[in-house]
Amino acid sequence: MNYMYHVKYWAVNMLCSALLLFILDGIGFGETLNREDKIDAQALWTYITVGNPYQNYPTWPGKEGFYESTMPPGNILKLYINDLALDTVMNKKGVFPEGALLIKENYTDDKKIFLITVMYKKKGFNPAGHDWYWVKYKPDGEVRLEGKVDACINCHVGVAGNDYVFTGSIK
Ligand code: HEC
Repeated sequence: MNYMYHVKYWAVNMLCSALLLFILDGIGFGETLNREDKIDAQALWTYITVGNPYQNYPTWPGKEGFYESTMPPGNILKLYINDLALDTVMNKKGVFPEGALLIKENYTDDKKIFLITVMYKKKGFNPAGHDWYWVKYKPDGEVRLEGKVDACINCHVGVAGNDYVFTGSIK
């Protein structure tokens, strides 16, 4: 094999890697809001479990590891937030930006995960509800509720002044 062959081979390889990255980035996250202002809950699941696994995200400051819910029946929780959301919490920005993700795991008393609830901020999705997209997943990714979920909103609206988030003041 001559030198030119190696150079060409390398160039093709780089091109393919770049293309693959581009495609993966596409399924990553921008493309989930379609023309009807719907977000694809399954694509979001793939993103938070495969594309950018949420278990690697930071936790809400001061809520590292397991802690108990303030709501009856007092489930055990874990709360992961992405870097955008962490920045909002740390720097008391008052409102989460587009792309902020809050992912709450719910466990039974014997620490078996049974539910994952997610808030994802997408500009234009629901201006009346601070543009939060709500999802409830089973641990295997099955979508139980998603979208502008009244059940979620009607309770979280109690903290609308804190951008619909209970866990701590972001102001
Ligand atoms: C009856 C009230 C209530 C309902 C209904 C409710 N939540 Fe919550 N949620 C809370 C409370 C209170 C917390 C703070 C953690 C705790 O103490 O349980 C919370 C925390 C969260 C968090 C972490 C961010 C935060 O606000 O602190 C997410 C994400 C979340 N809920 C998503 C959902 C989704 C999705 C639904 C609907 C499927 C939902 N919630 C329904 C009361 C509620």
